[in-house]
Amino acid sequence: MSPIPKTAPFAEEEIDLLNRVVGTASPVQRAWLAGFLAGLDASSAVVMPHPAAPARPAEPLTIVYASESGNSEKLAGDLAKAARKNGLKPTVIDMADLELSALASAKRLVVIAATWGEGEPPARAVRTYNELMGEGAPRLDGIEFGVLALGDTAYAEFCAIGRKIDERLAALGGKRAVDRVDCDLDFAEPAARWIGDAVKVLTPPNAGGRVIEVDFGGKPAVSPSTDVVEAEIIEHVDLNSSRSDKETIHLALSFEAGSPAYEPGDSLDLYAENDPAYVDELLKIAGLATDEKLRADFIKSRDVTTLSLKTVETYAASTGHQYVKALLADGEAKEWIVGRQLIDLIATFPIAIDAEKLRALTRPLAPRAYSIASSRREVGDEAHLLVSAVRYDSHGRARKGVASNYVAERLKRGQHVRVKLKPNRHFALPAPDKDIIMVGPGTGVAPFRAFVQERRATKVSGRSWLFFGDRTFTHDFLYQLDWQDALKDGALTRMDVAFSRDTPEKIYVQHKFWQRRADLIEWLDGGAYFYVCGDAKAMAKDVRAALVRAFADVKSLTPEAAEQAVVTLEREKRYLQDTY
Ligand SMILES: Cc1cc2nc3c(=O)[nH]c(=O)nc-3n(C[C@H](O)[C@H](O)[C@H](O)COP(=O)(O)OP(=O)(O)OC[C@H]3O[C@@H](n4cnc5c(N)ncnc54)[C@H](O)[C@@H]3O)c2cc1C
Ligand SMILES: Cc1cc2nc3c(=O)[nH]c(=O)nc-3n(C[C@H](O)[C@H](O)[C@H](O)COP(=O)(O)O)c2cc1C
Repeated sequence: MSPIPKTAPFAEEEIDLLNRVVGTASPVQRAWLAGFLAGLDASSAVVMPHPAAPARPAEPLTIVYASESGNSEKLAGDLAKAARKNGLKPTVIDMADLELSALASAKRLVVIAATWGEGEPPARAVRTYNELMGEGAPRLDGIEFGVLALGDTAYAEFCAIGRKIDERLAALGGKRAVDRVDCDLDFAEPAARWIGDAVKVLTPPNAGGRVIEVDFGGKPAVSPSTDVVEAEIIEHVDLNSSRSDKETIHLALSFEAGSPAYEPGDSLDLYAENDPAYVDELLKIAGLATDEKLRADFIKSRDVTTLSLKTVETYAASTGHQYVKALLADGEAKEWIVGRQLIDLIATFPIAIDAEKLRALTRPLAPRAYSIASSRREVGDEAHLLVSAVRYDSHGRARKGVASNYVAERLKRGQHVRVKLKPNRHFALPAPDKDIIMVGPGTGVAPFRAFVQERRATKVSGRSWLFFGDRTFTHDFLYQLDWQDALKDGALTRMDVAFSRDTPEKIYVQHKFWQRRADLIEWLDGGAYFYVCGDAKAMAKDVRAALVRAFADVKSLTPEAAEQAVVTLEREKRYLQDTY
């Protein structure tokens, strides 16, 4: 029996939920509920106004997010919550799962989109994004929309994907109800403001108040704490040999009050400090070497290395420097900043500058993400990270990545560091009986150490196959003993390695798995999950292309059909990526 009619002043899914509870309740339970609700209203001493008109079903709002590391996804959830409070009925969809034809029937649409790679969509969203940009995209005439873009001003293509989606929705006939906002890494405040504005604008008059919010007392899905916590460094080991030209630190963290409730596939955001030597040089060049307060602030909490177009514009405006103005006016600034840092701007175009103006050129220092390389089931209240020191030369200067060198050069055993859990439910282990194939060269192998530990601790029946690669077998074989143990005890079924500098011709993981293509396709046909982690620029694309070729070769498919085979894996969420 369904005692709550469809015309009741609740959203459709709420009516379903009520029917599930009330429909199966006994007469005693119903009588209790009726009395309880009546008593609740009476005791609240609030005079409920009579509705002027019968309540209408809540107005729908479609929220689509394109996310890789979860920021846009989290904001989509925040927006849904705010919309619900305002009497709207939100539906939240990952762009990866979106069928474009469904958009045409949306009334109101919000897209929250991050930009990745060099101005590319998040990996999961690529297919839908391309369809949206393609000729087959549906008309969206009259649909009210708004776009919130997430990005990083350090990238030349700042918020490119949000911008392109915004333009595309308008070109398809959509009506921009709220202007796009482009957010930098410190997006919390501007995004919250935009969400508030968007909900206001997209809520039709009289929608609010007509829908009664019902708390069904059901527990919300338990999400782990993502608070910033302190951890003690209990191991700090360079996994490369002293003769390697790389330095990759295995960092074991211990948490006094219990480790964050991470799962294999999650990352930790690590809060680093700047190199004091760099800060000292910057302050000296700026003529502010004696400003101790600014020095402390710069070391601890400001991004003093990134040089974006915005920084150059701010410098030109605040100092009036003629050459910097000319650089911008000539359109050369975008090219000039490539491979340069803030220190180059001040050194190349010196001018008297005070502390406030120099500080205004910087943004808050953002934490850096590192894949967790351990399973709690094996290491207890610890979390392990694998951090590769980023070092390179450009424009005559030796450069050092902020966080990786903070870890490699300044963090020592016994010291503490602040971290925050960054869950990633899109890069999780499958059911225990499923086979997994893991492709993780370099630090990309980190989450797979967690996968293998977890599978060992949970005694699964599914097989595990790891592809690892780095420069040399002798000097760069990260976690070599761990893999040998895992192969011995069965936590790892199979492993293939590619060391690019051990042979005259460079061999990478994708070459290895081309050699193993028959077995690979057999595993995938048997339902295996395929994971890729590590470099997004070249490796992830090469690996995908090699898999398409493997399908074509092994199954005698046309290139189009082979591509479709990989798309099917992606749609089935059996091709999973965590690349950076
Ligand atoms: C989800 C996720 C998981 C990650 N997991 C890991 C992990 O397990 N291990 C790991 O080591 N890293 C990992 N990373 C990368 C990590 O977050 C940092 O980006 C990396 O450590 C560099 O940070 P940094 O502060 O040292 O360098 P930054 O100070 O941020 O400098 C890096 C920047 O320097 C520039 N740069 C670097 N090399 C060159 C070059 N050769 N020429 C010119 N410019 C250059 C680029 O602009 C680059 O963006 C992960 C990233 C993400 C998003
Ligand atoms: C490897 C990498 C590449 C990125 N590329 C860009 C880019 O080209 N343009 C941009 O504006 N932001 C870029 N970003 C910044 C992200 O868009 C930003 O971190 C955003 O908050 C991520 O949102 P998400 O968690 O929803 O994926 C990049 C970030 C990473 C880690």
